[in-house]
Amino acid sequence: MLEQNRQKLESEQRFRALIENGTDLILVLDANRICHYVSPSLGRILGYALNEIIGKSVFELVHSDDVATLSEIFDHALKTPRIHLPIAEYRVQHSDGSWSIFEAVLTNLLDHPAVRGVVMNSHDVTERKHSEAALKQAATEAEAANRAKSAFLANMSHELRTPLSVIIGYSDMLLEEALAVGDKDTVRDLKQIRTAGAHLLTLINDILDISKLEAGQMRLYLEPFSIATLIKEVVSTIQPIVDGNGNSLKVDLTSNVDVIYGDATKLRQALLNLLNNAAKFTQQGKITLTVSAKEGETKAANGKESRWIVFQVQDTGIGIAPEQLPHLFEAFTQADVSISRIHSGTGLGLAISRRLCEMMGGKITVESAVGVGSTFTIYLPADRVNAKTKPAAQEEDTE
Ligand SMILES: Nc1ncnc2c1ncn2[C@@H]1O[C@H](COP(=O)(O)OP(=O)(O)OP(=O)(O)O)[C@@H](O)[C@H]1O
Ligand SMILES: [Mg+2]
Repeated sequence: MLEQNRQKLESEQRFRALIENGTDLILVLDANRICHYVSPSLGRILGYALNEIIGKSVFELVHSDDVATLSEIFDHALKTPRIHLPIAEYRVQHSDGSWSIFEAVLTNLLDHPAVRGVVMNSHDVTERKHSEAALKQAATEAEAANRAKSAFLANMSHELRTPLSVIIGYSDMLLEEALAVGDKDTVRDLKQIRTAGAHLLTLINDILDISKLEAGQMRLYLEPFSIATLIKEVVSTIQPIVDGNGNSLKVDLTSNVDVIYGDATKLRQALLNLLNNAAKFTQQGKITLTVSAKEGETKAANGKESRWIVFQVQDTGIGIAPEQLPHLFEAFTQADVSISRIHSGTGLGLAISRRLCEMMGGKITVESAVGVGSTFTIYLPADRVNAKTKPAAQEEDTE
């Protein structure tokens, strides 16, 4: 019996020590919100003596704006015994007048013979709340800075384009005159100016595009257009670049969807980017452009099964190392810096293409093996853009 009493006492002392040395603030309130017990952590946490709180309503220390929320949860606790009620957040005043933010869980143990009260278990979350607010503020500032940067780049590149167009226009005019009089030296020099000008214009256009995309200023211009016609235009633009590296280009148009409703210019731009890369990173190899329709292969953004128009650009070029694949679509990223010295480019093509496809409700994926080749695939939602379908499949080969 004596041993049993000793064990009981030890157990009680252990639990008391746990509560009294904890960092949480534990209060036991009656149904009228009067405090009957408060853990001694009160002194450490809020600076009050126990007798300043016991026998009083603790809600008096709560910020007036938070009393209503806390009361609501307290009243709810009174109606729902033995349930840990959702965390309430409230501000409490310290004995020195300063404020801290606390989180509390309330449990109604009024029917528990050893407690006979509503237990309010609170802990200080002030620091966490402040760092959350600081993080939010930093994110807002970073977002604003990023928008300002994008707007600056967009304006800059717009301003750069105007004089450049004049340079290109005049070199064209002078080139025609030099050709007419057969002045070979001047023709050669003017061609250099024209080529450099055109290259610079491409770079500026890319920077303008990525800034507009990042600033959310890019707009879609939707119209019905023929995929077959678009592919013909794309192929005739890219063919000289493909030929330049001794490559061949095969086009398979297996989709029975021809006229779709979408932004032809943006699709053309994305396809030209992919084909330009394929031609740039492939020597004496094969490039294949396949257009097909796929049913429900991939889930659309809204989670529904969808029908896609799929544009696939496959090459037998140098391929991309697996560790580079996740970064390919980031702006200004090139898979291999040493390679970028051989091949021209700024590393914007894929970043722009991906964002353009996403704007159109689609996406781009990549598969690649070093030394074997790469496959880039654009998926565009057919159901949203589909205007008319063509019954017969069509195949075309421009090799
Ligand atoms: N078909 C491909 N084969 C091998 N590597 C590729 C291929 N396509 C892209 N890459 C790699 O991905 C990088 C990024 O491509 P991206 O089109 O974004 O930039 P870029 O072609 O270098 O420059 P830009 O397109 O701005 O002129 C390339 O530099 C290249 O390293
Ligand atoms: Mg590119």
